[in-house]
Amino acid sequence: MAERRIVAVVGSTGAQGGGLARAILADPNGGFTARALTRKPDGEAARALAQKGAQVVACDLDQPESLKRAFDGADAAFCVTNYWEHFSPERELAQARALASAAKSAGVRHVIWSTLEDTRQWVPLSDDRMPTLMGKYKVPHFDAKGEADGFFRDAGVPTTWLLTSFYWDNFIYFGMGPQKGPGGGLAIAFPMGDKKLPGIAAEDIGACAYGILRRGAEYTGKTVGIAGEHLTGAEMAAGFSKALGQDVRYIDLPPEVYRGLGFPGADDLGSMFQFKRDFNDYFCAARDLGFSRMLHPGLQTFEMWLAANKGSIPLPA
Ligand SMILES: NC(=O)c1ccc[n+]([C@@H]2O[C@H](COP(=O)([O-])OP(=O)(O)OC[C@H]3O[C@@H](n4cnc5c(N)ncnc54)[C@H](OP(=O)(O)O)[C@@H]3O)[C@@H](O)[C@H]2O)c1
Repeated sequence: MAERRIVAVVGSTGAQGGGLARAILADPNGGFTARALTRKPDGEAARALAQKGAQVVACDLDQPESLKRAFDGADAAFCVTNYWEHFSPERELAQARALASAAKSAGVRHVIWSTLEDTRQWVPLSDDRMPTLMGKYKVPHFDAKGEADGFFRDAGVPTTWLLTSFYWDNFIYFGMGPQKGPGGGLAIAFPMGDKKLPGIAAEDIGACAYGILRRGAEYTGKTVGIAGEHLTGAEMAAGFSKALGQDVRYIDLPPEVYRGLGFPGADDLGSMFQFKRDFNDYFCAARDLGFSRMLHPGLQTFEMWLAANKGSIPLPA
């Protein structure tokens, strides 16, 4: 049997990288093997991957030398950064720069960079439709990833730029699930107007990335986008109502109200929704559903995701 190609998976203990590691490990005849990168090789998530056959390797994105060692001998690498751990675009940029440089020096033949749009290409800093945040960003957690796209291009590593979508899992873990609305009933609230929000089951991002790796050179040098479905707030609320057996309605909060909600990152997320709403034709077209399903035929719809996860969605008493 031919030797299996090593995929170094950054974020292997998290949603995106974890999904990819599990997709690789579930397909032992697929020609790939997963190297799970983490700062916590003895942690529960890393041990679960090791049990399934992953090689676990310690590394820290803030320590570029550790990354070079972790990429050594890898044929491919999945690269993701976690903005929400530190809320610093500069740190995210430094981590992405280290990823591109480590991939280049290890001779990695295919990088998938999990990215998002640099919204400043649509809304320049001088445009006051959205406030400028942290001095030089419109949507910091998007803009830093988009700005980092160039690091991989400049490093000259064969790269697929993977535009991801809103995780439906945010309704479980990110405090975006149904809350008591005015009048007492349940409601979801975000500023999408009547536009469609591309969404995806977080686990499916890794499975789509696996589809890209399997097709290899076909997608190097390309930007591709994925989503499970494009749904309006009202359509998602109807999905919740059906799955939960109680009425959930959608409230279209104005972006400026969302930005002022006061939780960490509210301003960033309010502008993120505004960007998705105001450039909706572009944003949806960049995340083609047929393409996503071709990469991963088991791609979940929102209804499927809700059926599997409704018991985990925290609801107000
Ligand atoms: N929520 C959404 O709707 C959404 C949609 C699109 C994109 N995103 C983006 O997704 C990113 C987060 O990805 P995720 O959801 O897969 O993350 P996650 O589930 O929160 O897990 C974070 C992962 O990153 C790893 N990590 C973080 N800092 C690290 C460091 N310094 N060195 C090594 N590993 C590090 C963690 O590994 P260890 O802790 O094991 O070291 C863990 O595996 C964010 O940047 C966010 O902007 C989110």
